[in-house]
Amino acid sequence: MKPMRILSGIQPTGNLHLGNYFGMMKQAIELQDKGEAFYFIADLHSMTSLFDPKLRREYTLEVAYTFLACGLDPKKAVLFVQSDVPEVTELTWLLGTVTPMGLLERCHSYKDKIAKGIAPSFGLFAYPVLMAADILIYDSDIVPVGQDQKQHVEVTRDIAIKFNERYGTTFKLPEALIRSETAKVPGIDGEKMSKSYGNTIEIFADEETARRKIMSIKTDSRRPEEPKPDADKNIAIQLMKLLAPPEVAQEYEDRLRRGGLGYAELKRKLFECYWEYFAPARKRYAELKANPSIVHDVLVEGARKARATAQVVLARARAAAGVGWV
Ligand code: ADP
Ligand code: TRP
Repeated sequence: MKPMRILSGIQPTGNLHLGNYFGMMKQAIELQDKGEAFYFIADLHSMTSLFDPKLRREYTLEVAYTFLACGLDPKKAVLFVQSDVPEVTELTWLLGTVTPMGLLERCHSYKDKIAKGIAPSFGLFAYPVLMAADILIYDSDIVPVGQDQKQHVEVTRDIAIKFNERYGTTFKLPEALIRSETAKVPGIDGEKMSKSYGNTIEIFADEETARRKIMSIKTDSRRPEEPKPDADKNIAIQLMKLLAPPEVAQEYEDRLRRGGLGYAELKRKLFECYWEYFAPARKRYAELKANPSIVHDVLVEGARKARATAQVVLARARAAAGVGWV
């Protein structure tokens, strides 16, 4: 039997945070032992919302460092930059011709981004078609993502079905893999943690910044002695469940519920757990930064492997659709 193909992407639009880590990276890295994993940095997607080329390059490299520091093993998983496989943009066109407008009009991410003030462009509207091409061009079976990307994977399936109906079976139908307990990691204000909401705790923030952010996690004005029956709704407790050993998180949740635990003490403990959780990755991150050629070589080799797969699938799609002559 062919090994399962696992694929996911992340945009280089900022430094990666706990939402990215627990929503997507952690499970993606664990899956490198379960099949053939392909992970890429979606620089073409980032062009819809980030317009500074220098910053795009910086963030692209930063995502690569972060993946490797957090445990992606380039001997097991293929790590590459999306635009280093130009075949994906050609497939985007082929798929665009079978994509009904209504399908794209229904996408919430488009509506949300416009509501946030991102300029509507053809690229932003066609974003899910490029994402479908990303997924379908590697014959992906499983796509580990956070909850907010679920609809995009469903759109990918719909587009694949349309293409298969029109031109004969060409694409595999992928499935999103979403872990319910980390589907939506809260930010310091309690909204979904997101680079664009300014509410993140970065994976590799410096100590002072991380401490400041964690101490500013939103809480209410109830006094420490008061019992808090809704302790499980507390943002710091929710983050602690991700970052601390289960018995520690349980102890703090119980203390908060009973009363007698102040929010400042809770957040100080959360900072400690965060700092410890990423300590080994922080060490690897510093080592990688001191040896940038390692990351460069990984991305070159990753692009080579990814491209070889993409070329085969694109050729299949071109043949099915009857495009190209020589
Ligand atoms: P951001 O919202 O910060 O721009 P991205 O859209 O680049 O993040 O997301 C990259 C990956 O991380 C996606 O799979 C997304 O679902 C996941 N992700 C981002 N934020 C969160 C979060 N707060 N909780 C769970 N998963 C998240
Ligand atoms: N749209 C995804 C996000 O914003 C990033 C992405 C691009 C992606 N192409 C993908 C994720 C393919 C999974 C599969 O997070």
